Amino acid sequence: MLEELKKEIKERGSLPVHIAVIMDGNGRWAKQRNLPRTEGHKAGVEAIRKVVRTAGEMGIQYLTLFAFSTENWRRPREEVSALMQLLSDTARRELKEMMDNNLQLKATGDIEGLPYAKRLALSQAIKKTSKNTGIVLNLALNYSGRSEILSAVRKIAREAKEGKLSPARIDEKMFESHLYTKGLPDPDLLIRTSGEKRLSNFLLWQAAYTELYITETLWPDFGEREFLMALADYQSRQRRFGRV
Ligand code: IPE
Ligand code: IPE
Ligand code: MG
Repeated sequence: MLEELKKEIKERGSLPVHIAVIMDGNGRWAKQRNLPRTEGHKAGVEAIRKVVRTAGEMGIQYLTLFAFSTENWRRPREEVSALMQLLSDTARRELKEMMDNNLQLKATGDIEGLPYAKRLALSQAIKKTSKNTGIVLNLALNYSGRSEILSAVRKIAREAKEGKLSPARIDEKMFESHLYTKGLPDPDLLIRTSGEKRLSNFLLWQAAYTELYITETLWPDFGEREFLMALADYQSRQRRFGRV
């Protein structure tokens, strides 16, 4: 049944090149089951595995997942440390799988701001997979769209002050080359799970013309079928980029 749908979607063509996902609803999923929020995050990792696999099968080239926002530091200490532990454990545990699938891991955000011990496995996986040529899995970690823009502005101002750059040369292309997402195309499709209709400071610059797909499904329940539905919905859109 799903194989049929996959085939249909592939035949229809014009798939998104880059998909970004706000993986929301882990806490609510756990609450519904009377479980601690951290169990929701664990279940969320399983959903990540499914979505990464399906995206690869469908030939999606870039997948950016919002895993931890700069604002998420304000959550209870136990939840933050469980999330950091999960990140480090998963990066270590999934390395072989990433290599087997020719996946290239990247990170977007203030990575230096993550606890050193916790980002070690992540840095190793990024380095190890850097020559792979398959799907790019880009994790947005300690990420804030506004901070990203400010950090680009700071870098550009510094270059101008040092006389390396004239303000007249600042255009979109050069600005983008100072963002964390340098080298990545803008997302074509942004999926947000669990029904919230907001960007929550995600990819503010990059999502200028991105198609939005919002589903009520909570992230741990988001699987292969849901992902394919989002692709099919995207294929029915008409992108105009301000033209007629
Ligand atoms: C998303 O799920 C995961 C992270 C933000 C790390 P939430 O933890 O935000 O789940 P809800 O929104 O409370 O249900
Ligand atoms: C966005 O979800 C961040 C991640 C998915 C990592 P949040 O749950 O933190 O966002 P708000 O609080 O609903 O805006
Ligand atoms: Mg949330």
